[in-house]
Amino acid sequence: MIELKKQVTFNIHRMGEDKKPYLETFQLECTEATTVLQALETIKADLDGSLTFRRSCRASICGSCGMFINNRSRLACRTKVKDMVDLNSDEELILEISPQKNQPVIKDLVVDITPFYEKIEKNNPFIQEGSEKVEQVDKTSYEQVNMVSNCIMCGSCYSDCTALAENKNYLGPAALAKMFRFVADPREGQKKKRLKELSKKNGIWDCTRCGLCIDACPKGVAPMEAIVKLRTRAIESGITNNKGAKHAMVFKNDLAKGGLLNEFWMILKTFGLFGAIKQLPNAVHLAKKGKIPPIFSEKVEGFEEIDAIFKQLKENPINVETKKEDDGPGAG
Ligand code: SF4
Ligand code: SF4
Ligand code: FES
Repeated sequence: MIELKKQVTFNIHRMGEDKKPYLETFQLECTEATTVLQALETIKADLDGSLTFRRSCRASICGSCGMFINNRSRLACRTKVKDMVDLNSDEELILEISPQKNQPVIKDLVVDITPFYEKIEKNNPFIQEGSEKVEQVDKTSYEQVNMVSNCIMCGSCYSDCTALAENKNYLGPAALAKMFRFVADPREGQKKKRLKELSKKNGIWDCTRCGLCIDACPKGVAPMEAIVKLRTRAIESGITNNKGAKHAMVFKNDLAKGGLLNEFWMILKTFGLFGAIKQLPNAVHLAKKGKIPPIFSEKVEGFEEIDAIFKQLKENPINVETKKEDDGPGAG
């Protein structure tokens, strides 16, 4: 069989020591087997030795080759060129590579990963002694912890996170997934203390649940699911005196009562009277658009089905300490 070989254009976002970003284009012949990392190494070896990027294992293990390739964060060693461009096409094949987002660029494709690591480090990423410690580690708890333990700290989720794009102080998906690893571990002695800390500003309730971290993660860690589980555990532990938990509880109660969210009461119950007053400009804006939420809501049509779900959950509560919560996407 003749090997398919095509000329591919690599548009690479670069930045030198003068901190001025520029775009540089390289042409390279690629086969169906060429990875983006191999292409970058060939460019560096044969075309421009100054091109700078991180890499080590070439096998999706070390997490160092994370970069932004064709509009998503990916590992360069795991990404084949043929999956980014159609090698069978007669059009010009263009691949765009830039450094990971949400982190300062040091040079070319290398970003400063200090904030990423600091957010993990400041939350004590190790088992702590305390009264909640349980000696027995069973299979179920292993399964809980196992998924998030696959993290290779590549930063892909951090780079694609929409909450971080708005708020640099947000802990981010990888740090929160790492914290779930400790909260879910029976040997951890400070679960409630951790959950209290994570329920503060910039923690679990700042996630927008956009799901991009799940798509970005090359190791199937599904950080957003870990964040949802942390939220569930926080509420179960009675850590509810914060806007995020209040919002979630009002939402659930509204659905249970009539199957419909009542935005009027939602704002009042989440933010309190003074907080709600601050939302008045938004309310005026909505009113101008004719979107005035009713003060009292009727039950929605087909409410019996919603009611049946809530009854089922009441009769068969989900135990957040067991594997059962892992059933289905976003469960927990
Ligand atoms: S789901 Fe949450 S943590 Fe994940 S990318 Fe979106 S905002 Fe970030
Ligand atoms: S959770 Fe996934 S995407 Fe995020 S740092 Fe870990 S391995 Fe990378
Ligand atoms: S080089 Fe190690 S993960 Fe890509």
